[in-house]
Amino acid sequence: MRKKLAVLTGAGMSAESGIATFRDSGGLWEQYPVEQVATPEGFTANPELVLNFYNMRRRELMNAKPNAGHYGLAAMEKDFDVHIITQNIDNLHEQAGSTNVLHLHGELMKVRSTGDDSLVYDIDPAHIDIHPGDTCEKGFQLRPHIVWFGEAVPMIYEAERICAQADIFVIIGTSMNVYPAAGLLNDIRKNVPVYLIDPKDVHTNRYNIHHIRKGASEGVKELKELLR
Ligand code: APR
Repeated sequence: MRKKLAVLTGAGMSAESGIATFRDSGGLWEQYPVEQVATPEGFTANPELVLNFYNMRRRELMNAKPNAGHYGLAAMEKDFDVHIITQNIDNLHEQAGSTNVLHLHGELMKVRSTGDDSLVYDIDPAHIDIHPGDTCEKGFQLRPHIVWFGEAVPMIYEAERICAQADIFVIIGTSMNVYPAAGLLNDIRKNVPVYLIDPKDVHTNRYNIHHIRKGASEGVKELKELLR
């Protein structure tokens, strides 16, 4: 029986793919006020600004490629039952070949109706910009299929279930600042080994974490050796 390997990833996972993180120096939240571009109130106040913010990030994703860390995690599916729980809205885990990816904070390449949450659409890469006036089949404005600050995180229950059953837990590229994602560490059983891949220290409430003080690409390589 293959061991269940749960991996929680954040923006640092995609940093080596050229996608900006949020809270490193020069990060996204230094350039854009969160409340204006990543809250429902911001979208109501200025839908064009918010839609353009995600249009710009979608264009950035078009030029990004998975890095060795993404590919390394996909390759680990040979030896482990890998479940990736990502806070990232990019699709680089999927592009690298991971088959079990849960997006806690939504997906940049999807949009949904503002009038019916069940109407979710894949974005056609040939028309990646969403504008005010683009509507769903019922005539409601389309919005990014992304969890904004203050909104519910419907996938957290599935994520908690995965973590509660994990035999190994790996945290890659997240400052563990944002809940409920950061709270998933509390669902990991006491005797389960926890690995952290991050060039910086990350504060958590768990003491016996094995910190691989490297970037995602080199860190995943070292992790694979440790778990061999
Ligand atoms: N490899 C691995 N980790 C890295 C790398 C790298 N090359 N570069 C930076 N990091 C680490 C940073 O040290 C930091 O711990 O990635 C982490 C990035 O933290 P944040 O910028 O806070 O991103 P994240 O934790 O994913 O933010 C969580 O906040 O804004 C919301 O919804 C947004 O999903 C996001 C959530």
